[in-house]
Amino acid sequence: MSRLDSMLRRLTAQRDGLNWAAAQIESMEGDVLDMGLGNGRTYDHLREILPDRRIWVMDRVLQCHPDSTPPAQDFLQGEAEPMLQKLADAGQTIALAHYDFGRGIKSEDVAEAARLSPLIARVIRPGGLLISGQPLEGFEQIKGPDSIAPDRYLFYRG
Ligand SMILES: C[S@@+](CC[C@H](N)C(=O)[O-])C[C@H]1O[C@@H](n2cnc3c(N)ncnc32)[C@H](O)[C@@H]1O
Repeated sequence: MSRLDSMLRRLTAQRDGLNWAAAQIESMEGDVLDMGLGNGRTYDHLREILPDRRIWVMDRVLQCHPDSTPPAQDFLQGEAEPMLQKLADAGQTIALAHYDFGRGIKSEDVAEAARLSPLIARVIRPGGLLISGQPLEGFEQIKGPDSIAPDRYLFYRG
């Protein structure tokens, strides 16, 4: 499969997964966390589908499209470990987290996701949802929407 096809499949799965997860947390209180602001595409989508939620977004750099710039009070700029720690200090407030860290080198991305998993667990509300392009550890893996192949995007409950 070409990298273009692979990217299209990943982005479609990402969008379908976010839409599915947003519907799942309808009756649950809590904030949303997007790990990896990047260009701001998933952050912008989350803002659109969950307009009444506080959406925290994390990245070591602010390099998004200007239209997707988060409010300063919701942007956790820095390395993931201290930023997750900062969020955890405020309690387990997150009903839905999206994990989109990584730079496309599978072994490194998988190792980073495993390393960050215990800290992510500290911010997720009991029963909260996690959706991820990388395997996370220590969570119950659940089935996502039928439209997404099981290995393309991963779904967990905290
Ligand atoms: C794949 S991009 C995110 C794309 C974004 N969700 C979008 O839709 O445009 C990954 C981002 O994660 C950030 N990142 C990766 N590892 C990180 C870490 N350990 N701490 C903070 N930011 C990290 C990178 O700077 C990069 O902007």
